[in-house]
Amino acid sequence: MRKALTIIALLLIALPAHAQDLPAGPGREETLKGCSGCHGVGVLIGEHRSETLWSSTVSMMASIGAPISDADFDTVVTYLTAQFGPRPAPAATNPAPRR
Ligand code: HEC
Repeated sequence: MRKALTIIALLLIALPAHAQDLPAGPGREETLKGCSGCHGVGVLIGEHRSETLWSSTVSMMASIGAPISDADFDTVVTYLTAQFGPRPAPAATNPAPRR
């Protein structure tokens, strides 16, 4: 177990630093505080997840030690869903792929 954690830690250190920042919005502070301790917020940027998926991601991170209080849990999930939620369904009247 200790060995696996060391390997994960080394992998995280080897990841390039992300110069990206979280967009402004309600819950940004809580998300920054809870989600930037182990990896950069770059892992969040560009994601497209449903509320259910964010909820399970945040639960998973909390279970491995992310500092998210029960009171902040919904705030963080709501922020993530608002900023990095699912892509809108393509309009049925426009079959051309959007770029
Ligand atoms: C205690 C350290 C720690 C904290 C704090 C943490 N994470 Fe993670 N996170 C990890 C580790 C380790 C990995 C890589 C392991 C993996 O990919 O499952 C990871 C990977 C991820 C990934 C990419 C893998 C995936 O699930 O797609 C996402 C997204 C993510 N974290 C989101 C978050 C969010 C959101 C928060 C804040 C609620 C957070 N993390 C806080 C340790 C942490």
